[in-house]
Amino acid sequence: MSERTLVLVKPDGVRRGLVGDVIARIERKGLKIVALELRTLSAETAEQHYEEHRAKPFFGSLVEFITGGPLVALVVEGPRAVEAFRGLAGATDPVSAAPGTIRGDHALEIQENIVHGSDSTDSAEREIKLFFPDLF
Ligand code: PPS
Repeated sequence: MSERTLVLVKPDGVRRGLVGDVIARIERKGLKIVALELRTLSAETAEQHYEEHRAKPFFGSLVEFITGGPLVALVVEGPRAVEAFRGLAGATDPVSAAPGTIRGDHALEIQENIVHGSDSTDSAEREIKLFFPDLF
């Protein structure tokens, strides 16, 4: 059974020229890219995307960061795609992320951690609807 997840190469990843590396890892794993777009998020879309973190102290900073430059949004498909991509990404805190993962290889900061991947199939559906409403 195939599943879909939303992946973002965040503005730090785009700025650092890591889009190709992230896409190569997705494709090497055998996951399929079914949508891809370079865009700069409005504050409104960013706030909707990170809705569940609204009460957290870092919310304002997170919204400012994610709207601070172009990002690449992708919908990725494959068996257990949510879990498969989170494995490629590594732990949220890049210092703890295993070497060989995207964050383990490229980052040190919890906010500037290169990529986002949906954390469940429910989140994936909500996030894909937000970024790519025409896919449904
Ligand atoms: S938490 O605290 O458990 O909800 O964190 P988590 O679900 O792992 O992370 C949610 C996203 O928030 C970002 N994050 C932070 N940004 C700034 N400062 C701090 N301290 C911080 N902690 C978490 C983190 O990069 C996650 O972004 P996404 O895009 O979901 O990966």
